[in-house]
Amino acid sequence: MKDAAIGIFDSGVGGLTVLRALAERLPGESFLYLGDTARLPYGTKSAETVSRYAVQAAAALVKRRVKLLVIACNTASAVALPALQAAFADIPVIGVVAPGAQAAVEAAPDGPIAVIATEGTVRGGAYARAIHARAPHIEVLQQACPLFVPLAEEGLTDGDLAAAVARHYLEQMRKAAPKCLVLGCTHFPALKAVIASAMGPGVALVDSAATTAMAVERQLKSSGALRDGGAPAIQFLVTDAPDRFARVSRIFLGAPVDPGAVEPIDLQ
Ligand code: DGL
Repeated sequence: MKDAAIGIFDSGVGGLTVLRALAERLPGESFLYLGDTARLPYGTKSAETVSRYAVQAAAALVKRRVKLLVIACNTASAVALPALQAAFADIPVIGVVAPGAQAAVEAAPDGPIAVIATEGTVRGGAYARAIHARAPHIEVLQQACPLFVPLAEEGLTDGDLAAAVARHYLEQMRKAAPKCLVLGCTHFPALKAVIASAMGPGVALVDSAATTAMAVERQLKSSGALRDGGAPAIQFLVTDAPDRFARVSRIFLGAPVDPGAVEPIDLQ
């Protein structure tokens, strides 16, 4: 099983920020990434629908014999992690919320901590619960920033439009003067610069992609499942529009994806 790929699941392209962090931290591993591009966004859907979609998508990865599942999508991690862990009890299933919350508490042990995410993640309160499980006294502020998702996918990650949207969403949070802000959505690391500028100085930005990669490394080491050698490979599965996926992926992965490496699949 050591040579099996790590499965990464996201609602679409944004989870490539997590793949990037994983590939940097674990350069010897192979990865199989599934973007449910036919059904994104997840962030505006009910918890029940997201759970159903996430279990179907994860099943497609497990069928291809991955050794560990990373739920790169914050919304799916926030509302579907228990369902995923129950459905795939034979392999470790790691979400992005707990590692992000841990990093936030380390960055701001006395708070306040701000969390920005999709509507679904904010509504479910998973980040606030994960932070309070580690530090009950910390004040947690939450703000849904749904427009950041299409802005990032359009490549509008800096400039006047992105800056105006960031100011619109973050004005109240800036006034509350948090010590740390969690980028609680796969797409938000692409907008890090405008988010940092809208929040002003003195706010540590936590990107859960990097902390999730560390959690995956710890898990593989402790179970003796780190790959020993051989050529690593990265493959992509999408449920719709493989050409668009390959085109937009550069924004999140920082490198182009060969359209030939993107396989369309049907989850139904
Ligand atoms: N991947 C989602 C997340 O991290 C953002 C995009 C969506 O709403 O599907 O929450």
